[in-house]
Amino acid sequence: MCGIVGILGSQPVAHDLIDALRRLEYRGYDSAGIATVENGHLERRRAEGKLRNLEQRIGEDPLKGKTGIGHTRWATHGKPTETNAHPHMSEKVSVVHNGIIENFRSLREELTAKGHVFDSDTDTEAVVHLITEELSRADDPIEAVSEALQKLEGAFALGIVFAGHDDLMIAARRGSPLAIGHGDDAMYLGSDAIALAPFTNKITYLEEGDMAVLTRKGAEIFDAEGEKVERPAVISQASSLLVDKGNHRHFMAKEIHEQPEVISHTLSHYIDMAEGRVDYPDLGLDLSDLSRITISACGTAYYAGLVGKYWIEKYARVPVEIDVASELRYREAPLPKDGLALFISQSGETADTLAVLRYCKEQGQRIASIVNVRTSTIARESDVILPTLAGPEIGVASTKAFTCQLAALAGLTLLIGRARGTISPELEQELVQGLLEVPRHMAEVMADEAQYEKLAHDLSKARDVLYLGRGINYPLALEGALKLKEISYIHAEGYAAGELKHGPIALIDENVPVIVVAPSDDLHDKTVSNVQEVAARGGKIILISNGDEDSAGCELMAHIRVPDAHPFTNPLLYAVPIQLIAYHTAVQMGTDVDQPRNLAKSVTVE
Ligand code: G6P
Repeated sequence: MCGIVGILGSQPVAHDLIDALRRLEYRGYDSAGIATVENGHLERRRAEGKLRNLEQRIGEDPLKGKTGIGHTRWATHGKPTETNAHPHMSEKVSVVHNGIIENFRSLREELTAKGHVFDSDTDTEAVVHLITEELSRADDPIEAVSEALQKLEGAFALGIVFAGHDDLMIAARRGSPLAIGHGDDAMYLGSDAIALAPFTNKITYLEEGDMAVLTRKGAEIFDAEGEKVERPAVISQASSLLVDKGNHRHFMAKEIHEQPEVISHTLSHYIDMAEGRVDYPDLGLDLSDLSRITISACGTAYYAGLVGKYWIEKYARVPVEIDVASELRYREAPLPKDGLALFISQSGETADTLAVLRYCKEQGQRIASIVNVRTSTIARESDVILPTLAGPEIGVASTKAFTCQLAALAGLTLLIGRARGTISPELEQELVQGLLEVPRHMAEVMADEAQYEKLAHDLSKARDVLYLGRGINYPLALEGALKLKEISYIHAEGYAAGELKHGPIALIDENVPVIVVAPSDDLHDKTVSNVQEVAARGGKIILISNGDEDSAGCELMAHIRVPDAHPFTNPLLYAVPIQLIAYHTAVQMGTDVDQPRNLAKSVTVE
């Protein structure tokens, strides 16, 4: 997790950059750094650890430039040392970066072969040398960055300054958030509006794929196709609020859109990027000899656990028992000696989940928990904490916490599979690579939001909606139905597609939309058969898949296309359309999206 800032000012900017970084320190504090353009040269100061170390360094050795960028780091690629601290730079260009450059290894090899010398272990340095290489071809920073961006794969936000260009900064956004602040004869860049609050509240949020060229006079923005576009400036409330909605109408929308970024953070907590393998805290158990794992949780967190069961059983070959906490706590379930009990909770305070945790402890289980709040009771009472790095989730209906829970469970699956020898080093690398591509794929899923608005218009007229999925898509069908009923108040049920004929098919008629989660996996054809059973009875089908529209073999009410991805990562990707369907339907219905009736974010009573 990292924070980015940039300032084009009329006075030396180092002090203000530090001030902005302080407001971003929640995004990481492994190291910090600043670079400014001074008399045409790039100068930088960096320091390991908290921002105060950098502040001290700059106090001793000031930076005088009036154009500068800054960064506070949450280490992903490379240890949290000064050498790996941002900004990274060559003689010509300096870069701050948040996110993951997926193809950094191949870029590094290519650029090294061309004579570039890398100083750090970071993925970011590949961006520096790539832009430097482009600049040596044509000395035009805008062209060089545009060319370089086309060669980058991954999800990222970048802030870039150039030697010899005192009135220029370039920003680019793909997957990770970036805001531009408008001042008087000054311009600002930040990972969020909160960072810029002391300087300006007039904010333009960059959209997916945008590149912005900033000078003191303003910003020119180009979209992913390189077309010049206008993005509105809004007045941010960030100065008075710790958590800001950005330019979203609801926290839920903001949290859905944060997913590419927070998934990167969560993955990078568990994955050694350089090695392409998972790296988890010691669970205090011999994972090669696990007889059973018991998972328990409530609501959306339970559905994350259900995905975990499919993953762990398939890839790590360990039996997994899972139950909602309100049931498991009273079932007096026998638990295996020295077993692992795993709890999943965003808040870490859910009363039923906590009660099961205590029961399992009494039964001699080792306790691990996947939590978003590290100081919570469930976290404190666990032997091992597996944090999700979703950041604060304000919308009552869980979105980003769910996918971060999936990210942590995916890593755990690989860890157990490796220990048990069911996942070879080659397969581990392949699955890790698949996970690293998730943030980019998620951003692609969100690109066409108009289709969800259109679909919501039709869904909002329905009284009942069915969600179907088979295999690992079954928990997603359950989560899709939960999301829809929670916030739109439309009655929705999730079913295992194969169960359709054992009852729910009686409900099908032309007034019941049926949403089918059907990626092209090994069960796809079976799901398609179920789709045809629905179509034959006049049901209206909404297909969420990576296949063609006609792959269902019948007429569709709508087709939501998801990018092709490694099948292992499908649950993370398919979570996004079901969230967007629920969100836009609720907006269409005019409900209180962030605080739906009768619900609470943290359920601390039984
Ligand atoms: C409530 C929330 C859900 C959440 C569930 C479990 O019902 O509305 O969004 O999934 O509690 O909460 P936890 O904090 O334990 O994940």
